[in-house]
Amino acid sequence: MKIRKAVFPAAGFGTRFLPATKAIPKEMLPLIDKPLIQYSVEEAKRSGLEEVIIVTGMGKTAIEDHFDVSFELEMLLKERNKTEILKMIEELSNFIHFSYTRQKKPLGLGHAIHCAKNLVGMEPFAVFLSDDVIDAKIPVMKQMVHTFRQYPYSILAVQRVPKKEVHHYGIIEAKKICPRIYKVIDMVEKPHPHDAPSNLAIIGRYILAPEIFNALEQIRPGKGGEIQLTDGLKMLSRTQPIYAYEFEGNRYDAGDKLGFLKANVSFALNTPGINKEFRSFLRGLNL
Ligand code: G1P
Repeated sequence: MKIRKAVFPAAGFGTRFLPATKAIPKEMLPLIDKPLIQYSVEEAKRSGLEEVIIVTGMGKTAIEDHFDVSFELEMLLKERNKTEILKMIEELSNFIHFSYTRQKKPLGLGHAIHCAKNLVGMEPFAVFLSDDVIDAKIPVMKQMVHTFRQYPYSILAVQRVPKKEVHHYGIIEAKKICPRIYKVIDMVEKPHPHDAPSNLAIIGRYILAPEIFNALEQIRPGKGGEIQLTDGLKMLSRTQPIYAYEFEGNRYDAGDKLGFLKANVSFALNTPGINKEFRSFLRGLNL
């Protein structure tokens, strides 16, 4: 079965970036010259997905505007013969099919994903957490879609993290079945390092079986009083297998100040037009 739809939870308040995110969604913070969310939307497209479903909340209209047609802007660029920028702006609104739904209460990641139930229907789908920016030769979701052909069940992107950082992530207990692929035995959301079953952390890319919606309806609020996706997956694992895929690529937690800065520096060093001068600027800092 083909993975066609991608769900993007984007209803969070972005408290880690206040006051910058008071009036601007955190998904719209720029990494060089594109908002964060655009990187994962592009990853979805390059992975062969056809539809993007964004779960938004209050104050998130900038995301819809970003991916919509801006008639006035396009007219202006045409008049001024800014053909290259015009092409880029036109491409953005024709890029992929977008739908939007709202999470009316901030009840957690699992709840946000459940809000997309009607738009997804009964087919396996992808989830992107756009805070996790991943620089990879082959887009991570494409790697996962490839894995799905062999293991047509839910697949979680995972990465090893230092033991002292496990409390930031969903952590899996798993059995390696072939290079980069694990069968998940158990999982726990943001454990204390002493209680973590491993240091394999779930990163914000998932392929989910549609039965996850049913599982999310059954679970109770977990860590932080929220409906956790990890708990939903744990419930789902009682009735069907779940796999984890250790992806190839460099991941930045752009939802965190330091991670966001690292992503900016690393992307800047690879951006033609600014990379050379930026590199010599960094050298000049004499760190
Ligand atoms: C969420 C998930 C967590 C996962 C993480 C990846 O947490 O709940 O299991 O490891 O994303 O970024 P959040 O970062 O939204 O608190």
